[in-house]
Amino acid sequence: MKELRYLNKYFAKYKFRFLLGIFITIIAQIVSLFVPKLISKSINVIADFQKNETTAVAAKVDLIHNILWILLATIVAGVLTFLMRQTLIVMSRHVEFDLKNEVFQKYEVLDQNFFKKNRTGDLMNRISEDVAKVRMYVGPAVMYTINTFIRFAIVIIYMFSASPKLTLYTLLPLPILAFVIFKLSTEINKRSTAFQQFLSRVFTFNQEIFSGIRVVKAYALEKKKQTNLKALAEESKEKSMGLARVQSLFGPLMIALIGISNLTVIYFGGMMFINQEHGMTEIGSIAEFIMYVNMLTWPVASIGWVSSMVQEAEASQKRINEFLKVDPEIKNTTSLHTEIKGDIEFRNVSYTYEDTKITALQDISFKIHKGETLAILGKTGSGKSSILSLLTRMYDTKQGAILIDGHPIEEVNLFDLRHSIGIVPQDAFLFSDSIKNNIKFGKENATEEEVIAAAKNAVIHDNITNFTNQYETILGERGITLSGGQKQRVSIARALIKDPEILLFDDCLSAVDTETEEQILSNLVKVSKNKTTIIVSHRVSSAKNADKIIILEEGKIIQQGSHNQLVNQEGYYKELYYKQLSEKEVE
Ligand SMILES: Nc1ncnc2c1ncn2[C@@H]1O[C@H](COP(=O)(O)OP(=O)(O)OP(=O)(O)O)[C@@H](O)[C@H]1O
Ligand SMILES: [Mg+2]
Repeated sequence: MKELRYLNKYFAKYKFRFLLGIFITIIAQIVSLFVPKLISKSINVIADFQKNETTAVAAKVDLIHNILWILLATIVAGVLTFLMRQTLIVMSRHVEFDLKNEVFQKYEVLDQNFFKKNRTGDLMNRISEDVAKVRMYVGPAVMYTINTFIRFAIVIIYMFSASPKLTLYTLLPLPILAFVIFKLSTEINKRSTAFQQFLSRVFTFNQEIFSGIRVVKAYALEKKKQTNLKALAEESKEKSMGLARVQSLFGPLMIALIGISNLTVIYFGGMMFINQEHGMTEIGSIAEFIMYVNMLTWPVASIGWVSSMVQEAEASQKRINEFLKVDPEIKNTTSLHTEIKGDIEFRNVSYTYEDTKITALQDISFKIHKGETLAILGKTGSGKSSILSLLTRMYDTKQGAILIDGHPIEEVNLFDLRHSIGIVPQDAFLFSDSIKNNIKFGKENATEEEVIAAAKNAVIHDNITNFTNQYETILGERGITLSGGQKQRVSIARALIKDPEILLFDDCLSAVDTETEEQILSNLVKVSKNKTTIIVSHRVSSAKNADKIIILEEGKIIQQGSHNQLVNQEGYYKELYYKQLSEKEVE
């Protein structure tokens, strides 16, 4: 129960509902317990008539009288039970909602390293399956426990006052019932969890096939994938059948145990009635006892059921707690607002990726001022994107210093930093939403004109107007698929509309032709006049107008300077320049 203590704050939050729920539960139980007493009285009336102790008319009046009372008690108990669910179960839904939000908010503050360590499936599971199991503790488990306690307390008092001896006999099978149900529920939960996990594997498999359908078809792998899926489906059927087998034991077991208890009452109660022992002098008492025993079986079974539910919730809450305790490595260290101008300096920065131990950057130093443009060139894997990741604080490094306007980057307000950076990542990601909303992602309250202006600067406006739905065209799963170059340009428009102090372009012109590239670059010169710009590229054409160019190789700067300096220097840049120049001439 240690882990579940975390939820106490939610019980406190909803204490009014919780206490009201408990109160209603108590009343509902008391009212429903009038019924056995009334039935016992009715049977006794019939017995009295049989023994000629009362007249037919008086017996009829008594019977109808009792039946009306039974009806009333049942209706009131029914309404109260409905209200009990409305308070306690609704409370658990509120807690579920709050907890899901808490988990989601935590996801949002955690950093890249966390998401690399945890698979998406696990994260989704935690927010849906685990939270759902915890809800079972907050709602049903609590409700049934209260129910059981109260019913037990009252029924046992009634039974004991009638006949302690018969009470003992009838209660004997109940602990066995609770134990068996506990074992059974635990087994059901175990199998159902295994089945769920397996289902999510099947789900992931399917999802990958759907998203990779083009590759699957192009490589003619349909048959093979079908065989794989069939094997998975077969195994999932096995697991599901195994679960159903155990589940199907539940009902018969309950009936058997109730039957045993009833037989115990009839036998021992009957014997005691025949001997006219104390408490069993009237035939109605036997009926009353049978009712009590039946009223007790479900609560007793629920002890087993609830214990296994609590066990599950404890395990789930443990997983949730573990991750709520994770401290994001990238933290905002100040609540003060920082105005960002755009001077950037790297001072002897090295960076090694934690998980792969790959040293992506070694002793990198450069400086650019507000309004200047830096181009970064280098072979694939040389560390270009890593520089941008450090600059947007996707990762932090302990070796060397990164300064923004002369302040160490860790001391700059993280949100201000990210607000003043417009990045176009290497793998342009677009949401399954309209083109307009994808561009507006950079500035939520942007006007129509601003969206169009940004699209024009990114040289994508004409493409968009050619679509039937223009800016309202839906992208992705339920819409059209943009070409690689179109995606890159929508992504550029998204960064431009933000009108940030710092613009970072990560190889984002790689999929556009050189003519469009020229156009975008000349637009950029206009819009980024007072902005600090870093352009990562493989092409000299993207770099040649930059104020400064650095060439990376295996994480180290091997050349730096302006275009004019570098073309007159033997090395990577000069080679690349002449190679790409001759390619252009061929075109
Ligand atoms: N998220 C990451 N986790 C672990 N290692 C990484 C990660 N990103 C990059 N690396 C490694 O760091 C090195 C530098 O990668 P980086 O992405 O910075 O290269 P790049 O110059 O941008 O290459 P490209 O031109 O292909 O985009 C590579 O060896 C790469 O394997
Ligand atoms: Mg890269």
